[in-house]
Amino acid sequence: MNKKEKYELILKQIESLIAGEKDNKVGVLANVAALLHHEFDSFFWTGFYLLAPDGKLKLGPFQGTIACFNIPVGKGVCGTSFAERKTLVVPDVEAFPGHIACSSLSRSEIVVPIYNKQGDGIGVLDIDSTALDAFDDTDAHYLERAMQLLTAEIYAD
Ligand code: SME
Repeated sequence: MNKKEKYELILKQIESLIAGEKDNKVGVLANVAALLHHEFDSFFWTGFYLLAPDGKLKLGPFQGTIACFNIPVGKGVCGTSFAERKTLVVPDVEAFPGHIACSSLSRSEIVVPIYNKQGDGIGVLDIDSTALDAFDDTDAHYLERAMQLLTAEIYAD
């Protein structure tokens, strides 16, 4: 199975996994992180940072090693993706100005912002790899679609 086929299957799995669970946001985020994380051997850390009332991105449900609790908006890859409202694919984290190193094992990453129905940013999906250059446009495309499915279910009000 190539990567596109794998992602097509993952989108279907996400749809059926989260259907009817809109009242359990934490559970849905946790299960989607687990699903993505265990489908790809190259994913070292997979999880969410969510905008908190104090204006910072705070650690949400994830799979992987312990991580930073707080990321200021505009800082690091997560904070930049959130502030600029765009998916960031970072082939070499050491080359990203202001990268926040939660783990020295992380070499490349992708961050996808997520939005509520009104289009307000509510957080990001962050996936890290121990390999350099682990993510490409295919990951960006499918992870954005996955996040649209997820937010349509749990942030629809
Ligand atoms: N590297 C991220 C921080 C989050 S962790 O890697 C889990 C960043 O620069 O935003």
